[in-house]
Amino acid sequence: MPAPKEIEILIRSKYPILYIVSWEERRVQDAIQGVANDLKRTLHTWSYTQGMKPPVPRAEGVAAVPDATLEALAQVITAQEGTIFLLKDFHPYMKDPRVIRLIRDAAYKLRSRAQTLILMGPTLVLPPDLEKDITVVDFPLPDAKDIASVLDTAIQEVKDNPKVDVTLSDETRETIIKSCQGLTMDEIESVFARSIVESKKFDQAVILEEKEQIIRKSGILEYYPPNNSLADVGGMENIKEWLDQRTTSFTDKAREFGIPVPKGVLLLGVQGCGKSLTAKAIAANWKLPMLKLDVGRIFGSLVGQSEENIRKAITTAESVAPCILWADELEKGFAGTSSVGDSGTTARVFATFLTWMQDKTAPVFLIATANDVSALPPELLRKGRFDEIFFIDLPKDKEREQIFEIHLKKRKRDPKHFKLKLKALAEKTDGFSGAEIETVVIAALQRAFHENRDITQADLITEIEASVPLSVMMKEDMEALRDWAHLRARPAS
Ligand SMILES: Nc1ncnc2c1ncn2[C@@H]1O[C@H](COP(=O)(O)OP(=O)(O)OP(=O)(O)O)[C@@H](O)[C@H]1O
Ligand SMILES: [Mg+2]
Repeated sequence: MPAPKEIEILIRSKYPILYIVSWEERRVQDAIQGVANDLKRTLHTWSYTQGMKPPVPRAEGVAAVPDATLEALAQVITAQEGTIFLLKDFHPYMKDPRVIRLIRDAAYKLRSRAQTLILMGPTLVLPPDLEKDITVVDFPLPDAKDIASVLDTAIQEVKDNPKVDVTLSDETRETIIKSCQGLTMDEIESVFARSIVESKKFDQAVILEEKEQIIRKSGILEYYPPNNSLADVGGMENIKEWLDQRTTSFTDKAREFGIPVPKGVLLLGVQGCGKSLTAKAIAANWKLPMLKLDVGRIFGSLVGQSEENIRKAITTAESVAPCILWADELEKGFAGTSSVGDSGTTARVFATFLTWMQDKTAPVFLIATANDVSALPPELLRKGRFDEIFFIDLPKDKEREQIFEIHLKKRKRDPKHFKLKLKALAEKTDGFSGAEIETVVIAALQRAFHENRDITQADLITEIEASVPLSVMMKEDMEALRDWAHLRARPAS
């Protein structure tokens, strides 16, 4: 495997010490071995359990240092030119002042020599004393080409097995490869093996399960498998049409055609009118995994923690791309970005988020939802951040009919069979939200159940008449929102 260009250049240009952040020892070692071969240098690897391989002979009469990590560094300093050292899992020792001193000595000794020290570990531990001596490099996860070659190897291995179906259409092949992005090479190999054993084929569902694990471990994001469907959403024709046109926007074909990856949408609107529901339906419609970003959970109590959290959330999302990042009730987290109370933390987190939205190239589609526009910072709404801002208003007549039908059918009551007149129900529910219509249906079912019979039109009407929709109680607020949105957002229907 060729080393990432950056690492190769750094070694060639004699940077003394590199720190590679990666879980993947095997890939990193293979890549470094490749560079060592090209440059005709000897690669020495070290780990706490294996020691230095091959060992570097010490001068006559110099005894080995009893501490294994210090001895490793001593060998690095003793060694001749024409060497590369790869010390694995070295981060736990980086706090030891003796280790720090030896690394500084090594930096001094190795500078401008054909000798490189590479530290690697899954996390970055870099004491400030060493910042100037060490160059930190990320080792990218396998890209589409790497994954394709693992897939081909896996196909070769099982192609003679009659019980396994490894024929893949071009489209499925692309989906499988895409789904593996964000996994390490070992994870990809295991997930293919598991998929073959479990499903007798290469199965995207198995791969997505593996990804779910990764996200759970990260803590700030929550994983939603593609679940609801657009058929569960009543009305919103404009949104549905918009989505429909973009169903294939995440494919390579779309890229070749010159279409950029969609960035995201902002769904504004009245409470209970289906913002969250629509977000989930989009993910299902596009068959992409969805990650819910808990905006409140980003803000940690320790200094610097919130910034680290948002960065971590972004990298995790990018590592599972293509996916949907769902920032529900955005205004709750980013409200008051101008306030001075939190010494600018909110503003910094928000700035990181905005920059990412602007510059992101990874196919992460952002769906943000909000009720209260006055709490949203105006920068967020500038053209170019979102592909579209949709305003989801209270459902209109026809939409309310659809919503009644959806919720009755969901509870196995086909309106036709029960002689329910949807049109009359819709007429009586002007000003009701989708959530309120759902509540009416449930309450009517409860009434019927209590009286030991099935649901009738009268039950529904009684419940409608007994409820006061939020749009009546919060008339002014809603009208203000509507006026605002009228000028700035596209209506959802
Ligand atoms: N257009 C709709 N079609 C079908 N069901 C709907 C619709 N709108 C709302 N509902 C029902 O109401 C429930 C609540 O809606 P949802 O949580 O999506 O609203 P929301 O706009 O996110 O509200 P909030 O601002 O309170 O978060 C949904 O789970 C769904 O059952
Ligand atoms: Mg919601």
